[in-house]
Amino acid sequence: MSGLADQIVLLLLLVSVSLSPVRCLGNGASGEERTLAMVKPDGVSGNYTDEIKRIIVEASFSIVNEMFTQLDKETASAFYEEHSSRSFFPHLVTYMTSGPVLVMLLEKRNAVSDWRRLIGPTDAGKAKISHPHSIRALCGKDSERNCVHGSDSTSSAEREIKFFFKNVVSGDTASQHDEL
Ligand code: CDP
Ligand code: MG
Repeated sequence: MSGLADQIVLLLLLVSVSLSPVRCLGNGASGEERTLAMVKPDGVSGNYTDEIKRIIVEASFSIVNEMFTQLDKETASAFYEEHSSRSFFPHLVTYMTSGPVLVMLLEKRNAVSDWRRLIGPTDAGKAKISHPHSIRALCGKDSERNCVHGSDSTSSAEREIKFFFKNVVSGDTASQHDEL
């Protein structure tokens, strides 16, 4: 092949790579990403579930799968394993096992960061001041009882989605834990 032909092939290759989808996280669909959301016990007992789902749909997320479940001590501890050495951990486990939770698998472009932005800061008391339109400002109370969960990174999302929903990658979104 001549030098010019080589350069044209290389150029075409570069163009095709730059036009291919950059983010194929979650389900492999172009640009879509998945994250794990949860309405915690205070959100469910406070009857915020419908309002939160309305906000989710209005923000253009698809709810791919969802289940109500009652976490036991072992499951809540495993889910929050990264915080096991923190002083608040025992309280957190008590809180998370105090009633049913609604676990949801959400999907949209930039799902992880968009959901985190929507829920607001961890401390719901501070959120009421700094992020008054966030979900935690709407239904949370303080740094523990903050009403909702959201994966904090794409790698956390992958772990947390596998934790609650098995076989989602293959498209079968059967829940791993027993539904209520
Ligand atoms: O949920 P988020 O990722 O915003 O915060 P985190 O630092 O990963 O903490 C996990 C959960 O632990 C929080 O959502 C709170 O429910 C609880 N927590 C607490 O009880 N006391 C703290 N000082 C910090 C977090
Ligand atoms: Mg976190």
